[in-house]
Amino acid sequence: MKMTTLNKIFLDMFHVLPKRAFFAPGRINLIGEYTDFNGGHVFPCAITYGTYAVARKREDQLIRLYSANFPDKGLIEFNLSELVYDHTHNWANYPKGMIRYILEAGYEIPTGFECAIQGNIPNGAGLSSSASIELLTGVMINGLYELAIPRLELIKLGKRVENEFIGVNSGIMDQFAVGMGKKDAGILLDCQTLRYEYAPVKLEHHKIIIMNTNKRRELADSKYNERRSECEQALEQLKTKLAIESLGQLSEAEFDEYQHFITNETVRKRAKHAVYENVRTLKALKELKKGNLTEFGRLINQSHISLRDDFEVTGVELDSLVEAAWKQPGVLGARMIGAGFGGCAIAIVENDEVDHFIANVGAIYKEKIGYNADFYIASIGDGAKEIMLEAVK
Ligand code: GLA
Repeated sequence: MKMTTLNKIFLDMFHVLPKRAFFAPGRINLIGEYTDFNGGHVFPCAITYGTYAVARKREDQLIRLYSANFPDKGLIEFNLSELVYDHTHNWANYPKGMIRYILEAGYEIPTGFECAIQGNIPNGAGLSSSASIELLTGVMINGLYELAIPRLELIKLGKRVENEFIGVNSGIMDQFAVGMGKKDAGILLDCQTLRYEYAPVKLEHHKIIIMNTNKRRELADSKYNERRSECEQALEQLKTKLAIESLGQLSEAEFDEYQHFITNETVRKRAKHAVYENVRTLKALKELKKGNLTEFGRLINQSHISLRDDFEVTGVELDSLVEAAWKQPGVLGARMIGAGFGGCAIAIVENDEVDHFIANVGAIYKEKIGYNADFYIASIGDGAKEIMLEAVK
């Protein structure tokens, strides 16, 4: 029998073979950035890069986790009764938080388990490697203990891990995309109501290129929380005059009419982005459905400009990549994705131009920033699921 790498890693670590295997993807967001916690729309998709786990239940209460991506952290062990945040446990806090909240939701996990994990999403690149581990843990616990936890509940528990266990005040986009992704489809999600629809994203003549700045997103979490509270401030001021629950409820015209109630200029710009980006996301979906890819691309470019100038979450690395991308032939659109401050951008590039594109943008970036960007071709894949042990890469 040919043994695949992760199964072999499990065997070396735990001296038995794993029983079950699971996969959770990363995500990209086509458009709709920083709209999720503002009750707006997002349009992400799951990608075929992701995180794999192989696992088996134990007889006792011990949980033993190993990630082949963090070999220096070694084997991380804790008891089912010790589910508290521990910074020395590093990446394992994500599965730990997930297990804790599944228990708190009233589900029974009678025994511990052991598991080996390996992912091919670049860490900290804004492709939701953390939501991927959260949902991976969710489907794994669901599968191992036959808990039948509804998918939407797992998604919400993943978000709770981010918000309460890790301390990032993020919205629901990442967990939703990772949990609900579908091959060759984007997910238009209304973050206020959680109503969603799938829209086919079949770009016959184009590829979606992920461009990684390789800039570490060190300050991203604190800046992220700052942006969130700026949006909340704007909403509070608007609420004194308007009967609204979120910025996502406003049209562009309404925002323009009432924006003067927001007293701080910076806060006003943040709110403007949230309102305009939400409207732009709905327009983009409409254009995509009509097959008007040129307009779809133009809206993607507008999204970046708004994130750069009004929301101010880009930075020289992302701007250099995206602005270089805009200048290349055969590019429909390009923009930063995720929380920003480093991480990744995407560009939609004509098939025949892809090689030139990567060479040119790569050279411009290296020249300006001093180190290389990385480029990957994104394929849109399914959400988190159990897979055959033999399918583990
Ligand atoms: C991060 C968060 C998401 C979302 C994006 C910005 O990815 O986890 O909830 O807010 O940033 O759109």
